[in-house]
Amino acid sequence: MFETLKDQPADKILMLIAAFRDDPRADKIDLGVGVYKDATGLTPVMRAVKVAERRLVETQETKTYTGLAGDPAFADAMIGLVLGDAVARDRVAAVATPGGTGAIRQALELIRLAAPQATVWLSNPTWPNHPSIIRYLGMKMAEYRYFDEATRGVDFAGMMADLTQVAPGDVVLLHGCCHNPTGANLGAAQWAEVIATLRARGAVPLVDLAYQGFGDGLDADAAATRAVAAGFDECLIATSCSKNFGIYRERTGLLMAVTRGAAEHRTTQGTLAFLNRQNYSFPPDHGARVVTMILTDPVLRADWEAELNAVRAGMLGLRAALAAELQRLTNSDRFGFLAQHRGMFSRLGTTPEVVERLRTEHGIYMVSDSRMNIAGLNAQTVPVLARAIVDCGV
Ligand code: LMR
Repeated sequence: MFETLKDQPADKILMLIAAFRDDPRADKIDLGVGVYKDATGLTPVMRAVKVAERRLVETQETKTYTGLAGDPAFADAMIGLVLGDAVARDRVAAVATPGGTGAIRQALELIRLAAPQATVWLSNPTWPNHPSIIRYLGMKMAEYRYFDEATRGVDFAGMMADLTQVAPGDVVLLHGCCHNPTGANLGAAQWAEVIATLRARGAVPLVDLAYQGFGDGLDADAAATRAVAAGFDECLIATSCSKNFGIYRERTGLLMAVTRGAAEHRTTQGTLAFLNRQNYSFPPDHGARVVTMILTDPVLRADWEAELNAVRAGMLGLRAALAAELQRLTNSDRFGFLAQHRGMFSRLGTTPEVVERLRTEHGIYMVSDSRMNIAGLNAQTVPVLARAIVDCGV
């Protein structure tokens, strides 16, 4: 049977990992996959994670199965972190998932069960795995405009024009903060307009929140998600602990479904558990327990927040330094958008050919759509990148 298989398209983000590893140049710079790196190029285990893991090893007495939805304490802790008191807890069904991708996948599976005809609307551009999974599941998909190539900000007029085409019951995938891949984000007033339009259209939002704490702070980055949760009878929220807890390989995420009320909550919770059972039975537990321990222990939580804030401030500093260096070199503020963007990524706004030149001539790796991982920079590489950007005529 295997002779019938065809090669699958390579993931354009993940293929950079191998390409970078195999590049022998000592001064190469990795701005590819979205992983935080400190000034020495290391992706560290966060202090609170280390403590929680040690404590877990010492205190855990069994590794027998948890529930299909994962440990309820993890759901409670994450719902608190993400939603605060935006929506009554008894309206939120939730399952632990293998990372944020698992949460997106289970959200789409749930939508496919509940509304197989629904079209899922994606921002153009979006994280490439969104359309890839939707296509794989055989679901209908449409795009709404998002990025203004000229300003490198949000094309809000285009976005709103497209969102007025959404049909009742369609699903609209929104990046809760730190848009991936562009780094361009909506302001609070724009979010309010999007919410009002989608409500009027009878749409169901699906929020992908993978970078809470990487933009303007934990609460600020959750504000739009909270406004969505408070503004709709039904919505879905896919969250990831990969980035903000730095536990990428532990595969720790949570899918939340905000439901209308008790009856829908019960059936939705049961369906989410059923979907976990069909796909992988029980979700991973180690990362979820570590996260729960951190979020429920005031000392660990304070230390985690302090470290996360330092990471965020570091990225903001790198953004400002890169924008300033490019202003100095070009004598213009046309790269000022880099300091306005938020999160790990910025779309530089250049062609795949120029991205290729940056790689071959300068050893600088970024995704072919010119998405740069700002967290891959440091004080030494900022001027190198700025010079290369100018040399390549961006
Ligand atoms: C990214 O966008 O680089 C990250 O979300 C990692 C991934 O899985 O693509």
